[in-house]
Amino acid sequence: ASLELGPYRHFMQKEIHEQPKAIRDTLSGRISDDNSRVVLGEVGMTAEQVKAISKIAIVACGTASHAGLVGKYLIEKLARIPVEWDVASEYRYKDPMVDQQTLCIVISQSGETADTLAALHEARRRGAKILAVTNVVGSSIARAADWVVYTWAGPEIAVASTKAYTTQLVAMSLLAIWLGQQNGNLDAGLAHELIADLRNLSAQASSVIEHQEEAIHEAAEKLAHSEDVFFIGRNLDYAVALEGQLKLKEISYIHAEGYAAGEMKHGPIALIDDNVPVIVLAPSGPLFEKTVSNMQEVRARGGKIV
Ligand code: BG6
Repeated sequence: ASLELGPYRHFMQKEIHEQPKAIRDTLSGRISDDNSRVVLGEVGMTAEQVKAISKIAIVACGTASHAGLVGKYLIEKLARIPVEWDVASEYRYKDPMVDQQTLCIVISQSGETADTLAALHEARRRGAKILAVTNVVGSSIARAADWVVYTWAGPEIAVASTKAYTTQLVAMSLLAIWLGQQNGNLDAGLAHELIADLRNLSAQASSVIEHQEEAIHEAAEKLAHSEDVFFIGRNLDYAVALEGQLKLKEISYIHAEGYAAGEMKHGPIALIDDNVPVIVLAPSGPLFEKTVSNMQEVRARGGKIV
């Protein structure tokens, strides 16, 4: 194991550092040279079949479900197809509304998670076509699906998902753009911008790892003795906040909650005081000001903001 670890202290750290390469591998061969198109030859659906999809069901567990929630936002925005999102352990028991016009997207790093596989079979039994997003070639979920989009993250050894999660986000971005291009709902100019962004992503990930690791380390030291931590964000960043809280629980055994930023004032803000750090996901963009105002509500209660 020490040979495999190289300069890293543990596999999670190694896998964090492998993200730029994993992102590159996930994109490889899937975007056209002129950034105009996403190419997913492995999904054998014609444009007509994509146009006929009446809704998509995204089903997964844990980290993969959080990547699925990002996928829901992206598919609804870019392809304008309604998306239902469920955790797999609930899906089977809700008498899901599925028919032959439903596309079920299951996401699983390992391709072996029992709840996800059971949900896949349930959707199939009710007539859905199945598209799997997985990292493991020939896994049970890959074999049971109609089509597979592999994430090509390479083996992930650490329990908490890092590069597998980021490549799931890339795969869901590719799928959302692809669906929107197939059904004609995605504007060509926007597609071009998004694909160019994807092309830059690996370099941006490298830059974060290279330049921010120390800052992240310092923030982590400040948080390490907390008993409770909140993660808040809006839209895609809400989905990312959910993943943040899961990761913190899995790795540090610190109690954490992920919340939609605007929902904090409807109850949970009562739990905020100067012992409860709040990690705010507020990238630039149309929701920045809105998120900052939620941040100020938290600050007014004495919460420490990261
Ligand atoms: C859980 C793991 O048991 O399975 C999570 O603790 C993981 O970290 C989840 O996200 C789903 O795994 P998979 O392989 O289906 O993506």
